[in-house]
Amino acid sequence: MPLVVIVGCQWGDEGKGKVIDFLAHDVDWVARYQGGNNAGHTVIVDGKRIVLHLIPSGILRPQLKCMIGGGVVVDPQAMVEEMREVEATGLDVRSRLFISETAHLIMPYHRKLDHMMEARRGDNKIGTTGRGIGCAYSDKVARHGIRALDLRDKDQFVRKVKTFSPFYQHLFQSYGEDMWRVDEVVDEVWAYRDDIAPLIVDGVSLINDELKRGARVLAEGAQGILLDLDFGTYPFVTSSNPSPGGVCTGLGISPRAVSKCIGVVKAYSTRVGAGPFVTECDEPLNSQIREWGGEFGATTGRARRCGWFDCVALRRSLQLGGITNLALMKLDVLSNLPEIKVCTHYLVGGKRVDILPFGLEDSEQATPIYETLKGWNKPIRDVRSYDELPVQARDYISALEDFVGAKMDFVSVGPDRAETIFRNQDSFTQLTA
Ligand code: GDP
Ligand code: IMO
Ligand code: MG
Repeated sequence: MPLVVIVGCQWGDEGKGKVIDFLAHDVDWVARYQGGNNAGHTVIVDGKRIVLHLIPSGILRPQLKCMIGGGVVVDPQAMVEEMREVEATGLDVRSRLFISETAHLIMPYHRKLDHMMEARRGDNKIGTTGRGIGCAYSDKVARHGIRALDLRDKDQFVRKVKTFSPFYQHLFQSYGEDMWRVDEVVDEVWAYRDDIAPLIVDGVSLINDELKRGARVLAEGAQGILLDLDFGTYPFVTSSNPSPGGVCTGLGISPRAVSKCIGVVKAYSTRVGAGPFVTECDEPLNSQIREWGGEFGATTGRARRCGWFDCVALRRSLQLGGITNLALMKLDVLSNLPEIKVCTHYLVGGKRVDILPFGLEDSEQATPIYETLKGWNKPIRDVRSYDELPVQARDYISALEDFVGAKMDFVSVGPDRAETIFRNQDSFTQLTA
C-alpha cells in the first residue's frame, strides 16, 4: 500500500507545492493531512503561477483525486473561493475533490479571535497568518468545534453555533470587542454550504479503500516540521502536526500504510513570523537573499526572514520523519554568492549541540558554528543533469549530505516543473514499485 509523505523540513515554504505537483503525475491521490489556509503552496504551470492554500496541489493534474483529511481545518469561505479560482483555470474540481466529514470548520469568530489574541500578545506575538487556525484547533481540542459533517443538517449546525456562542460572547466582551450575532454567523457560513456539502464524505473509509485496491497516494504536508505543535520551536509554531506522525491521525490511516517520508528543504533557511532563527543573516544579506529567492509569503505577502542552511535544525526534522531522501530546492537562489555558509552545530551555554534543542525560544540562546564553502557564481537554471552542475554546487550538496546524513535526490534549480534535476527517481519515490 504505497503512501508517500511529502513533508517540509524547515519552517515552511520550502517548495513543497512544486515537489508535489512534480511527483503527482505518477499517483492517483494527493491528500492534505493537517493545517488549513495558513498554507501557501506555489506551483508554476506553463509559466502561470498558481497558489493553493487549502486544496491539495495535486488538483492541477486533471487525472488526480484530492482529499482534504480530517486533520485539516477548513474555512468554508476560503474553500469555496479557492475552488472557484482553480475552476477558472479550466480544471474540473468538484468531481475530484473530497472533504473528510470529520474536518473541523474555521468559523468567522476564530478568525477574529486570532487577530484579537495576536494584538494582545505584545512582544510575545507569534506572527500568525491571522486565518483563525490556532483558534479552530483550540476548539477542536476543547470539544466545542463544528465539523464539516455538521453542514449536512442546518438545525444541528444552528444548535451548535448557539450552544458555543455564550463562551465567545463572554470572551469578546472581556476583550472589549464588538459582540456578534448567532444568525449572522450562521448566514455567513451557510452561504458556502451548498458548494461544500456535496464534497463531504467518510474520508477515512474512502482513503483506506483506495489504498486497499492499490491506489498510489501522496500525503501533502503543509508548513514544516520546525513549525510542528509538539516538536517545533514552541510556542512559535502552528497548531497542528506537519511532522509525518500527523498523517495517521490526519487521514485516518495506519502507520503501516506509510511506505516513505520524503523531506523538502531549501538550500538556505527562511521563516515568516516570530520565533528563534539561529542562522538568520544580518543585513544586507538577509534582504538580498529575500530578493533573489522572492521570499515573500504566498499567503500573507509578508517578507520572509532569510538565513543560512541550518543542519542542526534539519537533524531534528530528519529524526522525526525518519527521512533519508530529500528534495533540495531553490539552489539557483545562491548563485550570486562568492561564499556560502552552512551551520553544522550550535554552541549553547558553551557546549556543542548537534540537534535542535526543544527549549530554544530566542536566537540569542545559541551561537551558530559555520563551515564556509565556495560559491559557484554563475546561473544554473538551465542545468538539467547533476553532472552539469558547477563543481562548487556539487560540493555544496555533498557537504550538506555529509553533515545531515541524508541523500539529496531531487535538486530544484528554478520554480518551473522543468527546472528540476532527478538524481535517482526510484529511490526518491518508490511509487511505482
Ligand atoms: P511551499 O509552501 O513549501 O509550497 O512553498 P511556497 O510556494 O510558499 O514557496 C516556495 C517559492 O519558491 C514559490 O514561489 C515557488 O514557485 C518557488 N520555487 C520553488 N522551487 C524553486 C526553485 O528551485 N528555485 C526558485 N528560484 N524558486 C523556486
Ligand atoms: P506553507 O504550507 C510558513 C507560520 C506563521 C506563524 C506560525 C503560526 O506554505 O509552508 P498560524 O497562522 O499557523 O497559527 O501561524 O506559523 N506559518 C507558516 N510559515 N509557511 C506556512 O505554510 C505557514 N503556515 C503557518 O507565519 O509564524
Ligand atoms: Mg508556502
